[in-house]
Amino acid sequence: MRGKFITLEGIDGAGKSTHLAWLATHFRTRNLPICQTREPGGTPLGEKLRALLLDKDQPMHLETETLLMFAARREHIQQVIEPALARGDWVLCDRFTDATFAYQGGGRGVACEKLEILEQWVQDGLQPDLTIIFDLPPAIGRARAGRIKIPDRFEAENEAFYERVRAGYLGRAKNDVKRIRLIDASRSIAEVQADLLVLVDRLCQ
Ligand SMILES: Nc1ncnc2c1ncn2[C@@H]1O[C@H](COP(=O)(O)OP(=O)(O)OP(=O)(O)O)[C@@H](O)[C@H]1O
Ligand SMILES: [Mg+2]
Repeated sequence: MRGKFITLEGIDGAGKSTHLAWLATHFRTRNLPICQTREPGGTPLGEKLRALLLDKDQPMHLETETLLMFAARREHIQQVIEPALARGDWVLCDRFTDATFAYQGGGRGVACEKLEILEQWVQDGLQPDLTIIFDLPPAIGRARAGRIKIPDRFEAENEAFYERVRAGYLGRAKNDVKRIRLIDASRSIAEVQADLLVLVDRLCQ
């Protein structure tokens, strides 16, 4: 049986990596085969593109940034995501196309229509079975993420950028209520995980 494709989204510091690791453990204890991956990246070439995309000292036109995101995604789908789904794995992916709509679309202002064309071209109909957006005010995300490391190209952006990214995510959620679920990530980890369980268990049925 084909696996399920779950993507985790949200601004920096929203808790994607934390909850992805927790979900992976949850599925493993239920003996479900999983494929844990991330974007941009997930393949050798994709990880090289990721390094370029996150390097704040590498100047780049905003459409170049967008195209590299989709180039990495094309590779990721073909080499990792589709084969994993075909062999029945549950694919847990830290960011996917909704991040491109939120960051390059909402945050940077790339026209939605252009992103839709690229989405259609690169994904050829592939969509996640479930997308979870961890929503929280940028100031909280920044405070959480800021404790960890030196900011990359996106983390170096200002509060207004992150407000636009958040609005971009909320707009996506509104337009696809079936696939995309919002979780209030300003609450405790335990409260967020209780909501998460309900959502993923629904997919198991
Ligand atoms: N609900 C929460 N309450 C308090 N702290 C949290 C919560 N969720 C995550 N954290 C902490 O916030 C920090 C950032 O979380 P995490 O790295 O999972 O975010 P992320 O969405 O993956 O960020 P990035 O986009 O930068 O990779 C971590 O130290 C994590 O332990
Ligand atoms: Mg992370």
